[in-house]
Amino acid sequence: MATLATAPNSFHRVPHPAPVPAASRAQAIADPGFGKVFTDHMVTIDWEEGRGWHSPRIGPREPLSLDPASAVLHYAQEIFEGLKAYKLEDGAMALFRPDANARRFNASADRLAMPNLPEEAFIEAIRQLVLADREWFPTVQGGSLYLRPFMIATEAFLGVRPAKQYKFLVIASPSGNYFKSGAPAVSIWVSRDYTRAAPGGTGAAKCGGNYAASLVPHAEAVSKGHDQVCFLDAAEHKYVEELGGMNLFFAFEDGSLLTPPLGGTILPGITRDSLITLAREEGLTVREEPYAFDQWRADAASGKLVEAFACGTAAVVTPVGTVASHDGEFTIGSGGPGQTTQRLRDKLVSLQRGIAEDKLGWVTRLD
Ligand SMILES: Cc1ncc(COP(=O)(O)O)c(C=O)c1O
Repeated sequence: MATLATAPNSFHRVPHPAPVPAASRAQAIADPGFGKVFTDHMVTIDWEEGRGWHSPRIGPREPLSLDPASAVLHYAQEIFEGLKAYKLEDGAMALFRPDANARRFNASADRLAMPNLPEEAFIEAIRQLVLADREWFPTVQGGSLYLRPFMIATEAFLGVRPAKQYKFLVIASPSGNYFKSGAPAVSIWVSRDYTRAAPGGTGAAKCGGNYAASLVPHAEAVSKGHDQVCFLDAAEHKYVEELGGMNLFFAFEDGSLLTPPLGGTILPGITRDSLITLAREEGLTVREEPYAFDQWRADAASGKLVEAFACGTAAVVTPVGTVASHDGEFTIGSGGPGQTTQRLRDKLVSLQRGIAEDKLGWVTRLD
């Protein structure tokens, strides 16, 4: 099978006939919000059985032409990633742990019976796009270029089996704050009626189907005035798992931290993993243990729990202020950002922005 050449010059460049004019672009990137504005280009790589990955190219971002029988449209054979390009203090563009995203992408591919993409190809595809669209970097304070690599099954076939043709694509979206309100703390709704992922399911994979299934519980949370939905485990409806798009941490009065363990039903967040490392480096005890929702409420009431925060690429580190469920509502600590949350957030952000020394080799400079 042909191996994919991933040297920068192996990406064919398709010239853009009509990029967005500079004045419109400047307006779009001044306050882009999240996920609404898109850059001029996209990367595409094709795969087919017997040939492997081929034809890497970067060209204008444009609608896809798909056969209506494409497997992705019927059986949701689709996976994606989410990561950001940051601007370092010296003006260089950089990615944060893109190798971890590449590995998780392949773990998702394995679970969805899709082909693996070589890690170097994943990173090179992103590098090509960020450098082509660097003028799209948002001017808003704290902005970044959000990158969305994804893979879809394109074979036209209605039988239920893994497809024999796929497309890998990367698009980019200038982004500001994830939360509309830019609130100092989020309020979450713990779902009683819905679960996100069961043991043996696809909870650890970043596949579109997981998110489709979370839309109704998320809408329920929003309709009750909350920012995010929090899922409990599917087997017992007892243990806290994660939010719709973020992992959770709990900080206790003895200085220790707890986060739900990776057992196949929650997404192994790269922010989660980075924070565990940074906290342990500081000498904090971090336990990866199940945490019952009743215990959470009791610990918040007794004052044993002093902070809780959500984390992820989009939301970075965001304090959880209030928690509501069918049984009522409770507040954590002061209801706003606590010291540990703030300190860990600052540590992470200063690494991502090239302010702190990158001792762990997490920052990949792109130019
Ligand atoms: C369900 C879910 N959990 C957790 C995360 C956090 O993962 P990461 O830190 O890699 O962004 C995300 C998203 O990005 C997510 O969609």
